[in-house]
Amino acid sequence: MKILAICGSPHREGLSPGLLKAAAEGARLAGAEVEVVLLAEKRIKPCIACPSPPCWTSMECNIKDDDGLHLRKLFNECDGLIISAPVYFLGLNGLVKDFLDRMRYYHSNGKPALPIAAAGGTGKGCVKALQDLSTSLTVFGFRIVMPMPVTRYNAEEAFSQAKERGRKLVEEFSEPKPLSNLGEGYAWLYSLPYMTWNLVDELLYLSRIAIEGLRRKGRDDLAESLYSELLALENYPEDLAVRAMVLHQKTMHAFNTS
Ligand SMILES: Cc1cc2nc3c(=O)[nH]c(=O)nc-3n(C[C@H](O)[C@H](O)[C@H](O)COP(=O)(O)O)c2cc1C
Repeated sequence: MKILAICGSPHREGLSPGLLKAAAEGARLAGAEVEVVLLAEKRIKPCIACPSPPCWTSMECNIKDDDGLHLRKLFNECDGLIISAPVYFLGLNGLVKDFLDRMRYYHSNGKPALPIAAAGGTGKGCVKALQDLSTSLTVFGFRIVMPMPVTRYNAEEAFSQAKERGRKLVEEFSEPKPLSNLGEGYAWLYSLPYMTWNLVDELLYLSRIAIEGLRRKGRDDLAESLYSELLALENYPEDLAVRAMVLHQKTMHAFNTS
């Protein structure tokens, strides 16, 4: 199985490169041939939406002086994809978006894709960006498997999880499972964890994983009282967003200072 493993970080070392490396290692250990691509080392100009573009029906591109078309070939030739993207302002960073805008998809579909979104600051956007990445890959005909939102609160476990998921990608999802149309792709996508959450769900998730992080740091006392606050939020549906934001800030502060 040929896996294309793409990292969208401008850094060679860091959260998203580390997660990508771990997932790629898992896939290799399971016997896959893995090609790692660091987008920061490639020249990728933004799509210019040219008139009469050849790209929709053929492996061609009017932009000739960068690596976009070569990457599009790799994207189409792989049997499975791993992609790790840093989160900037609650969305995908520009490098990943420019890459995605230059991709097109021609023949087979239903190949597995393991998306990872790494929000290394407050964590906000880890789910939102993961949804955007997963939606784009669904549009390109991939079948999303095991989507991973990663933040500072779950980073430690995330590295071993990424390795395990890279292995599973090869051992359990090696056969393409074609999707009959985009609607079926949406149905599959929305059956997966995280994919139907809104930004308030994301704040509640961040609070929960920060509390779990506090427990791992041995701060059970603090974790218990913050967990009670989290449970109590269900009594305030009318101003849940405001209260969820306050709790996220509190749990983040507790995690960062413990
Ligand atoms: C312009 C910019 C915007 C960012 N916005 C967010 C954000 O919305 N949420 C977050 O958790 N982290 C944010 N970060 C932090 C990145 O997610 C973090 O640096 C990420 O892990 C990328 O690092 P990496 O290249 O080592 O993976 C931002 C960083 C930059 C440079």
